[in-house]
Amino acid sequence: MKHLLSIEDLERDEIERIMERAASFAEVGRRDIKKVPTLRGRTVVSLFYESSTRTSSSFELAAKRLSADTVSIKAQGSSVDKGESLRDTIATLNAYGPEALIIRSPHAGAAQLVTEWTSAAVINAGDGKHEHPSQALLDAYTLLDRFGQSDGKRRTDLEGKRIWIVGDVLHSRVARSCALCFRALGAEVTLCGPPTLIPRGAAAALDVDVAYTLDDLGEADVVYALRMQLERMSDSFVPSMREYAINYQIDSRRLGPRQLLMHPGPVNRGIELSPDVIDGPASLITAQVESGLVVRMAVLYELLAGRGEPRGAGADDAELPAPTPIGEPA
Ligand code: CP
Repeated sequence: MKHLLSIEDLERDEIERIMERAASFAEVGRRDIKKVPTLRGRTVVSLFYESSTRTSSSFELAAKRLSADTVSIKAQGSSVDKGESLRDTIATLNAYGPEALIIRSPHAGAAQLVTEWTSAAVINAGDGKHEHPSQALLDAYTLLDRFGQSDGKRRTDLEGKRIWIVGDVLHSRVARSCALCFRALGAEVTLCGPPTLIPRGAAAALDVDVAYTLDDLGEADVVYALRMQLERMSDSFVPSMREYAINYQIDSRRLGPRQLLMHPGPVNRGIELSPDVIDGPASLITAQVESGLVVRMAVLYELLAGRGEPRGAGADDAELPAPTPIGEPA
């Protein structure tokens, strides 16, 4: 794996390897010393052209937990404000010799484009309406972990599980990445929302079912609600948010006692989810954020572990150690 641009590029065994690696980092996270020297001497740069709380903070913390040096740029407040182009910004950041470059952009294909301008491993942290692969990986990890706890043994697949992804599928990079990832792990996936918010051809393209009402929601093991992406809606896709909520909001009347609830965040409280289910026992929303850290550590490890020695490192530093905590013998 050279870059992480889309779930579509990943084989099932690569997804499974990331899940397994994330589980080992979760184990490290339960120790007193949570930091490992794995990426010592390597530089990880992140560049966010769109707002982010979860993805930006978890990638930064993941890189730090792996002992990498980090540089985090938000477009707002950087020289992008003065009109610097993406290409010139990447050329500037290349001067630090980054091993990984994490980018979020409002434009589909931006991460792919960046691979042409840098020798760093590029991670797509969300590109327009296209994909958000690390979100899908952390969501898959969250489900494997939860179902594994219920089964009393570690799970490596989602075979036999039904996952409904509900809401604004049209504008959602998360929906696309999650559908691909959940299908790759064997789940049955249904996309549900108003006809105006389900892309034509989605069922065939993603090998999923489509529903336009919540009538059969009871069949789902997992209800994955999407954020209404008001900032990406240039047209009137629903008559009103009130009407959307009446027909598609997940609330305690609609969520059954055995069903799990997910949402990528940030949540529009009272629109796609009612406050009682956000904070209720079925909600995995906080677990998703926790998974983000270990899964992003695993992604960085997967991309950088095979890259040989850090730039400028001597022969003594060349080998990447296994994830042993700092302060313990390597
Ligand atoms: N889910 C997600 O990508 O959240 P942020 O926008 O806060 O990173």
